[in-house]
Amino acid sequence: MASLIPVIPKTFRDRVVSPSLLAADFSCIGDEVSRAIHAGADWIHLDVMDGHFVDNISFGPAMVQTVHESNDIFLDVHLMISRPDHYLGRFIAAGSDLITVHVEAEHDVAETLRRIREGGCEAGLALNPATPLSAVEPYLDQIDLLLCMTVVPGFGGQAFMPEVLEKIKAAVKIRETNRLTYHVEVDGGIDAVTAARCFTAGANVMVAGSSTFRAPEMATAITHIRNA
Ligand code: DX5
Ligand code: ZN
Repeated sequence: MASLIPVIPKTFRDRVVSPSLLAADFSCIGDEVSRAIHAGADWIHLDVMDGHFVDNISFGPAMVQTVHESNDIFLDVHLMISRPDHYLGRFIAAGSDLITVHVEAEHDVAETLRRIREGGCEAGLALNPATPLSAVEPYLDQIDLLLCMTVVPGFGGQAFMPEVLEKIKAAVKIRETNRLTYHVEVDGGIDAVTAARCFTAGANVMVAGSSTFRAPEMATAITHIRNA
């Protein structure tokens, strides 16, 4: 397949739409990724679930590699797995551009973040809706992206949790006070309406599964989220 030029934002002020492959048609993944790219996706979000950290099993590094080999779009890999440190090397080798690990997982968070960057990827840190911001504060100078989950992770198609908006605002405030540079990403129940609330709170990266891949017109859906 011909290479496509990726659109990689340079600062956390740029708005990014990252459609989640979890909502795509798994019988034709390559075509689904192309459809998202042509519809204006900035990144592709890949939800890796191990059936232990979350109550669902999705796919592993082979899927990341398949998507990586089919085009040049920026791959936003979200590891919902208990031992990200154990599997990290395989996700780096598979062609991830950004790897996000959960602060709640069983690993040395600082060491995992260091290894992600050492492997040539951007480092993301995620926290669940119930996890306070204080849990990630020690690591905020070691990340390129903070993912504030807006649903309890595990499944697509869940309702957005508005109580996370205050955490997003606080994360942006800490970034500004300390002159840090991480993107703030939201994931779960994002559509044009909830994206508007998240942008207002200060998030700039919108992960959207159902509202993009399952929209009647994906390009329109992505445009509406970006311009929300
Ligand atoms: C949830 C995943 C999400 C999910 C979002 O555990 O991390 O990325 O695919 O799906 P929607 O946009 O349908 O809520
Ligand atoms: Zn995700």
